[in-house]
Amino acid sequence: MCEQCKNKFYITTPIYYPSSRLHIGHAYCTVATDVMARYKRMQGCEVMFLTGTDEHGQKIETKARESGVTPQQFVDNIVEGERGVKDLWKLMNISYDRFIRTTDDYHVASIQKIFKAMYDKGDIYKGYYEGLYCTPCESFWTESQLVDGKCPDCGREVKPAREEAYFFRLSKYADRVQALLETGTFLEPASRVNEMINNFIKPGLEDLCVSRTSFTWGVPVDFDPGHVVYVWVDALFNYMTALGFMNEKYHDLDKFWPADVHFVGKEIVRFHSIIWPAFLMSLELPLPKKVYGHGWLNFNGEKMSKSRGNVVDPYLLAERYGVDALRFFMLRTFPFGSDGNFTNESLINCINVDLANDLGNLLSRTVAMVQKYFGGRLPLEQEEDEAKDDELVTMACDLVHMYTEQMEKFAFQNALGEVFKVIARANKYIDENEPWKLAKDESRKPRLARVMYNLLETLRICGGLLTPFMPETAAEISKRIGSDDDSWESMGFFGTLPRDAAVQAGPALFPRIDLAKELEYLDGLLAAQSPAPEAGPSEQNEAEAGKDASAAAQPQNDKTEAPLPEPLPEIAFDDFTKVEMTVVKVLACENVKKSKKLLKFQLDDGTGTPRQILSGIAKFYKPEDLVGKTLVAVTNLAPRKMMGQLSCGMLLSAERGEQLHLLMLDDAIPAGSRLC
Ligand code: MSP
Repeated sequence: MCEQCKNKFYITTPIYYPSSRLHIGHAYCTVATDVMARYKRMQGCEVMFLTGTDEHGQKIETKARESGVTPQQFVDNIVEGERGVKDLWKLMNISYDRFIRTTDDYHVASIQKIFKAMYDKGDIYKGYYEGLYCTPCESFWTESQLVDGKCPDCGREVKPAREEAYFFRLSKYADRVQALLETGTFLEPASRVNEMINNFIKPGLEDLCVSRTSFTWGVPVDFDPGHVVYVWVDALFNYMTALGFMNEKYHDLDKFWPADVHFVGKEIVRFHSIIWPAFLMSLELPLPKKVYGHGWLNFNGEKMSKSRGNVVDPYLLAERYGVDALRFFMLRTFPFGSDGNFTNESLINCINVDLANDLGNLLSRTVAMVQKYFGGRLPLEQEEDEAKDDELVTMACDLVHMYTEQMEKFAFQNALGEVFKVIARANKYIDENEPWKLAKDESRKPRLARVMYNLLETLRICGGLLTPFMPETAAEISKRIGSDDDSWESMGFFGTLPRDAAVQAGPALFPRIDLAKELEYLDGLLAAQSPAPEAGPSEQNEAEAGKDASAAAQPQNDKTEAPLPEPLPEIAFDDFTKVEMTVVKVLACENVKKSKKLLKFQLDDGTGTPRQILSGIAKFYKPEDLVGKTLVAVTNLAPRKMMGQLSCGMLLSAERGEQLHLLMLDDAIPAGSRLC
């Protein structure tokens, strides 16, 4: 029995806003959750994988009105309709166990009871919400959310206003929440803990406004008509109502609560790691064991959003490259805890290198040789292993341990890295053993049979461990190598496949793609995409979170690549270590007067005193796009003057031909961290 989860595993994705169609960025977290759920099921755990939709709020009410339908009709269409949320999860082969909609009757009734329980406890009280109000948008904004002093949504004037509202005593739980975060196990990756404590807890937690009167599309506060429950109270409790908390629809609370892990995107970590535990503390309920804040998938260096017209359509990609390839690409290419930059090139390269070349070739070569040399079934007469088989056999035997270690940390990229190390080793094993030469000598047939068996067995283990990531491909591999045992236990044993396994040939698992032609095709599709003038779901989060996560405007990708720069002479390691490279955050940035080239930065380098650096990158970036970004600076360069101004260091960027990109890091990395 698994000591950690006691053979029960409850995992959740965020519930999605059905305010517009989902894009591939949304699928990222759901695919990761699905991989984890399938992996735990393989291990024999009883899994509850919950996903769903978060359907209330002003934005949906407004969009429904604009579309001339009721809010319920609007969300029904996006959730249940053709190419809606449920269709997308079907397409992506998502094996969820339960799907909750926050408009489900049982959930609405549960939320009313939950709100009342916190009110009765004295943790929800009535007060006034004061802020800057935009009348046409019916929205309150804080000073920092305004754009040029105006409403960030419509650009019109805002005026101070106050409205009766209920508040949750978040401040009361600040110390307990801080202690929880400091345990280091509740919130991961660790960098997000510092972010929460420094940015939200230390400046002081204020009580949270938990009701609205300016719109009606929400769960009504039943003891005070006119108020609807704030969407985040409604949304967060989905994780428990879906198990039967405060309702009779389900009876799974005892079995599955507390959740083993909530997977959430980085911009909603605050809601899950501060507000959610505080709500649970108020109701004296057990806390989830872990919240994991993953990074975002950007597209060509920009945030994915409908308004930018860069939304990557999962239907298109899955239809063209196959669902498994798409699932695999997302988790193989980007470390889950950090942001990743999706480019068409990275997708095609991943398919060509890992899937077509390494995995696909290993399978097709092996099966073809078993057919050619043994008519499709290995003979029982096989030599025992030679010393030169040891490395491959040991690697294949140990793989399940290496893989599990990474999977338990949600390090999907590393887990796949381990599998592909073994696949690479197996390809090398073919070249080392030269089966085509063994086949020429009848007396070497038993040795040849052993070589083939070792390859099939390696494929069985690698294919088995790829099951959570690529379920259909893994099943196809099993079929082709004649394996009918994909049990978890068998992954740790070399030699489970029957000696006389019969193989089956088939078409290439992943045909190689012509990169240049394919990029031309995909670029054409993107160019044909017309940007819709609406914000994607994630923009709503930013408004709620009061954060601007927009990415810097990057120069367009120029497909004609400049030649590689000349290599530099070798340096000693000691020389390299003399360079101090520090993570910095841009506090302010402006053009230097009378200079077309220079930008002047004020940077937080972790010391508490802003550092000024001048950089000749004005033609590549607008200063306002860089504020808040996390960059790397060389901080022990002797200061020097440029245009009469002091520059204390140098920002690192990558240059190729006419292109320049500042080195931007995951915002979760704290300022002052040293690169090593
Ligand atoms: N409704 C809330 C969640 C409530 S959970 C109690 C919400 N919905 S959302 O539809 O806006 O976003 C759902 C998830 O998708 C978030 O975790 C968000 O981070 C994630 N993503 C949206 N765009 C993304 C990328 N481009 N890349 C990766 N994840 C992204 O937030």
